Order: sequence, then structure tokens, then C-alpha cells
Amino acid sequence: MRVLDAGCGPGFYVAEFLDRGAAEVVGFDASPTMAELARQRVGSRARVECHDLARPIDWLADGSFDLAVMALVIHHLDDRVGALRELNRVLAPDGALVVSTHHPTNDWLRKGGSYFTVERLEEVWKGSWHVRFWRMPLSVVCDEFRAAGFLIERLVEPQPVLEAAGSHSADPTFGELQTTPGFIAFRLVKG
Ligand SMILES: C[S@@+](CC[C@H](N)C(=O)[O-])C[C@H]1O[C@@H](n2cnc3c(N)ncnc32)[C@H](O)[C@@H]1O
Repeated sequence: MRVLDAGCGPGFYVAEFLDRGAAEVVGFDASPTMAELARQRVGSRARVECHDLARPIDWLADGSFDLAVMALVIHHLDDRVGALRELNRVLAPDGALVVSTHHPTNDWLRKGGSYFTVERLEEVWKGSWHVRFWRMPLSVVCDEFRAAGFLIERLVEPQPVLEAAGSHSADPTFGELQTTPGFIAFRLVKG
């Protein structure tokens, strides 16, 4: 299987797919620091590039991947449909894209106002981590997938796995995520 990790961060999933026997794994991230961390993690076993999804992925050929993963990245993008179209282009006809993002109800519960608002937010996490991301209702998330040529094959609202209870049960987020949706993930196929 040929796998692409878009916005690979420090390369956790690049390493995971390699360890699971993927024939070829390519990762990229807009942050040079993240791309370098990913390279350090996987060495010469995978190609890792510094690339911003705001630009076409013109160094990747049409139909060259069986699976693409974009984990917790899409809400950072201004042109989400453009980036999704590029991922659609590089997927084989029977390929799939797995996307995860903030659960729209979580952003709404935290920020208030109208659930239907589409806006870019800026927050500071953990005292010094400046984060910019988009909030939007679920219908807009799904419309953007369709505009980019994808169909939703599966939707998952993940909860913490029981195996994590031993090491994370003291973390308030662990209990919160058992009852409140934090994230949402989709498996998309070409429409
Ligand atoms: C929350 S991290 C997730 C990293 C990785 N996917 C994971 O799950 O471990 C978000 C990543 O998206 C990257 N990113 C944000 N905007 C991007 C863009 N326009 N193009 C490519 N990567 C981007 C960030 O640099 C960061 O590494």
C-alpha cells in the first residue's frame, strides 16, 4: 500500500504505517521543524518534505497513493476545498482519504454563539502556543468534502480507549472526552 500523510507533524503516523508494512510512505508538513522531526523519526525509510497545503502538491503524480491521511490539519486551512481536491487528485481511483478534525459541536460548546457560524478563530493554548483554526457546522464540513469530489464512506466520533485509562485517568480531558465529542473522523472515497 502507498500512503500519504498530509500535515504529518513529527511523523507518528508515518512511522506507524511503515511499521505496519506499507510499501511506500510519503509525509509532508508546512512546518520545517515538524518535517525535520518526522525525518529524524523515520530516517531514510520514508520521504518527508516541507510543503504547505495552500499550494498544489505538484511534486506528486496523479493517482499515486492508495491511502491519504490528514489528521487534525484541515481546520487550520483557509482553502480547504483546494487542498482536498489535491489529495483527491493524488489518490488512485479506489483510494481513500482519512480526515480528522475538531468535532463541530465541541467548538460551538467552547466558543458559544451560533452553531452555524463559519469563522477563523485565534487562541493561545497552554500559555504560549498560538493556534489559528476554523470553526464551522457539520453541514459545511460535509459540503466541502463533496465540493472536492469525495463521498463519506464512514464517520467516527472517537472516545478515549479503555486501555488509556491507566495512564490518563487523572487527566480531566480523559473524562470529558468520554461524554463530550472532542473530535470527528471521516473515511472519504472518490465520488
Ligand atoms: C495538530 S498537528 C497534527 C500533526 C499530525 N497529523 C498528527 O496527528 O500527529 C497539525 C499539523 O498540521 C500542520 N499544518 C498546518 N497547516 C498546514 C498547511 N497549510 N500545510 C501543511 N501542514 C500544515 C502543522 O504544522 C502541524 O504539524
